[in-house]
Amino acid sequence: MKKIRLAIVGIGNCASSLVQGIEFYRRQHTPRVKEALGLMNYEIGGYKPQDIEVVCAFDIDKRKVGLPVKKAIFQHPNCTKLITNHLPTPNTLVQMGEILDGVAEHMKEYPDNRTFMPSLAKSVDVVKELKKSGAEVLISYLPVGSSKATEFYAEACLEAGVSMVNCMPVFIASNPVWAKRFADRGIPIIGDDIKSQVGATIVHRTLAKLCEDRGVKIDRTYQLNTGGNTDFLNMLNRSRLTHKKISKTESVQSQFAERMHADNIHIGPSDYVPWQNDNKVAFIRIEGRGFGNIPLHMEVRLSVEDSPNSAGVAVDAIRCLKIARERKLKGPLFSVSAYLMKHPPRQYSDSVAKKMVQEFIAGKRRD
Ligand SMILES: NC(=O)c1ccc[n+]([C@@H]2O[C@H](COP(=O)([O-])OP(=O)(O)OC[C@H]3O[C@@H](n4cnc5c(N)ncnc54)[C@H](O)[C@@H]3O)[C@@H](O)[C@H]2O)c1
Repeated sequence: MKKIRLAIVGIGNCASSLVQGIEFYRRQHTPRVKEALGLMNYEIGGYKPQDIEVVCAFDIDKRKVGLPVKKAIFQHPNCTKLITNHLPTPNTLVQMGEILDGVAEHMKEYPDNRTFMPSLAKSVDVVKELKKSGAEVLISYLPVGSSKATEFYAEACLEAGVSMVNCMPVFIASNPVWAKRFADRGIPIIGDDIKSQVGATIVHRTLAKLCEDRGVKIDRTYQLNTGGNTDFLNMLNRSRLTHKKISKTESVQSQFAERMHADNIHIGPSDYVPWQNDNKVAFIRIEGRGFGNIPLHMEVRLSVEDSPNSAGVAVDAIRCLKIARERKLKGPLFSVSAYLMKHPPRQYSDSVAKKMVQEFIAGKRRD
């Protein structure tokens, strides 16, 4: 079976879970139902998770740059739970990327083991390295608020002819100007801002849709999130959060036939709690009225490990891009982005989007 040649930008917790997860599934030898544990799809277009091969990697942290990916993923400040530490690969070295706006000012105020430590090394020629590695898909795990860095790597993808899975909330696939540039260049793209396997967004969307479908009028709702990884630390700087808030809020708003007033819907990262590490806790509250105008209140507390939760979705996005390239598709994949991303170019309910993705995988639709 052919491999999928992957480039990763940002060797943080999400990259760590993705790389460990690929190895975890490689060790499951025979494709039986039980091996599909934790996956939405064991095979996509004939590709299994273990067919993803990391051929290129970029970061800016001095503890990661220069190390093989299989070691870099275990360096501070990464703190996600171990899936497996038996990693013969990837031996691909992490190369110095462009820092640009990747590191927020306030990150300097935290202990080394908790924060980013930018390297002073000179950045490599990213386009040249992408071409040299033969990467077909680049997955971006840049920190929230890295607009310039995201645009820099999107440009590099366009120049090198590489597809992009944009897991973070700077809008590329859902920005018509960027989307057209990818389409004109003949490159498929998926984005933006990855939706976790079962995370706060999909739970909140599903509950909102449930109320809507069963005639309950939602008056107010919130989603408060706490966590102790660098993603949460970075998001303490509220000025970096504009797109994250839009992405998370729109993801829920899109499920209502009538938009809620902005004062009545509050969704966002709420605090950084260091001892939580990569554990994320979401508190969701929905207040509504049902039959006869009688109130209904709902409280949900969801506790998840943040990064494996996103990697379970990333393995599908990467494989969908590979088959899109084989089918010579270009521009945003609307179906896959709607199911796997919080801020896709077009929003659909998750049940509709799931059906569209199945049709896409089966070759019955081209977007
Ligand atoms: N469930 C999830 O974990 C989830 C869900 C949705 C979106 N996301 C988004 O995915 C992104 C990655 O999340 P994470 O938890 O892995 O973050 P992280 O903080 O663990 O990792 C970010 C990595 O990027 C590196 N970096 C910073 N600036 C860089 C630059 N200019 N070039 C290259 N590398 C750079 C850092 O050194 C670090 O290794 C975040 O934007 C996050 O919001 C995550």
